[in-house]
Amino acid sequence: MQGLHIHGIHHAYGDTDVLNNVSLTVPAGELVCLLGPSGCGKTTLLRIAAGLEKLQAGSISIDESVVAEPGLELPPEDRKIGFMFQDYALFPHLTIRDNVSFGLFRQSKQAARDRAMEMLEQVGLTRHADDYPHMLSGGQQQRVALARALAPAPRLVLLDEPFSGLDSNMRARIRQETLTMLKQTNVATLMVTHDPREAMFMSDRIKVMGANGQVLQSGRPVDIYYKPVDEYVARLFGPVNMIEGPVAGGRLETSFGPVDSEDIPDGQIMRVLIRLEGLSLHYHSGAPTDVPVDVLTAHLLGDSSIVHIRMREGPNKGVEYRARVHGSFDPTAHGQVWARVDPRCIFQYPNPEDGR
Ligand SMILES: Nc1ncnc2c1ncn2[C@@H]1O[C@H](COP(=O)(O)OP(=O)(O)OP(=O)(O)O)[C@@H](O)[C@H]1O
Ligand SMILES: [Mg+2]
Repeated sequence: MQGLHIHGIHHAYGDTDVLNNVSLTVPAGELVCLLGPSGCGKTTLLRIAAGLEKLQAGSISIDESVVAEPGLELPPEDRKIGFMFQDYALFPHLTIRDNVSFGLFRQSKQAARDRAMEMLEQVGLTRHADDYPHMLSGGQQQRVALARALAPAPRLVLLDEPFSGLDSNMRARIRQETLTMLKQTNVATLMVTHDPREAMFMSDRIKVMGANGQVLQSGRPVDIYYKPVDEYVARLFGPVNMIEGPVAGGRLETSFGPVDSEDIPDGQIMRVLIRLEGLSLHYHSGAPTDVPVDVLTAHLLGDSSIVHIRMREGPNKGVEYRARVHGSFDPTAHGQVWARVDPRCIFQYPNPEDGR
């Protein structure tokens, strides 16, 4: 299959293991995100794929040819890779056009110039061709870096936190433009981010890495969001409501009704996590499972509000939860409402402190 294949990578700096048996595939035309906490080895993996860090174990192939394995190490310039790193490091003493044509040293001067102008046109910066990097805004420089990475028509693009220097509006725009350009070229892209929403937006597949440099879960954004394999992955996307309790008769009672725990032995303490948007609020009861709650506060975030609610009756009377509801929500206008849970946003995991 065309694309990037990374197999069985282990990596240590001195005595410290950084990557543990990492394998992944990025088919041509797809974008895979590595999502993980600071220090988990994301940049190290990218540098190994690029040939900037010596491979210690495992193998790397691009478009079915091996570029690194024990005893073989192709230099970075022979791997047909485009890079874009966090600081996008344009050469300050070169014009924008010369920055973009920098990697085209195998072509004639004229061909390199034409290709650079073609790339600058794609990112909407032809009128800056003769400017120097310091004359451009951060977002414009980022686009130049993208044009430079894609100019040699690489087989693989490696992006390391490419948008982190930009403010949120610019970031959203450049992210979209980058994605559009990558998808037009059918290149394989491996991108690093520690922003889960960015990973969701950009990726065909996400690899969630843990602090110890191993892959915790890998899948489409929809799998990672709606079927997180453990509490850590579930919590990556922001705050959740948590309910703890023992399983009895294959179910666990919560404030919002029973949750099926069929294969779990009676007495095991489980943790149920409910995403904030998994609780919806209604002025009238519309389903038998709706529960009455008091609204305590509401905070408008713009596109949604975070509403603090308290159970009004039943065994969990007084227990508080948070819900994320669409748009503005005026708590004074609706003191008492009904809460309903979306089963897609409920996850349960064994309590890590339950020692059985
Ligand atoms: N050249 C090096 N020599 C020694 N240790 C290193 C070297 N490069 C990285 N490390 C260590 O390896 C670990 C992984 O670093 P890496 O840069 O790959 O993490 P990362 O996942 O990219 O983190 P971040 O999200 O902060 O960029 C860290 O503990 C780091 O301190
Ligand atoms: Mg890094």
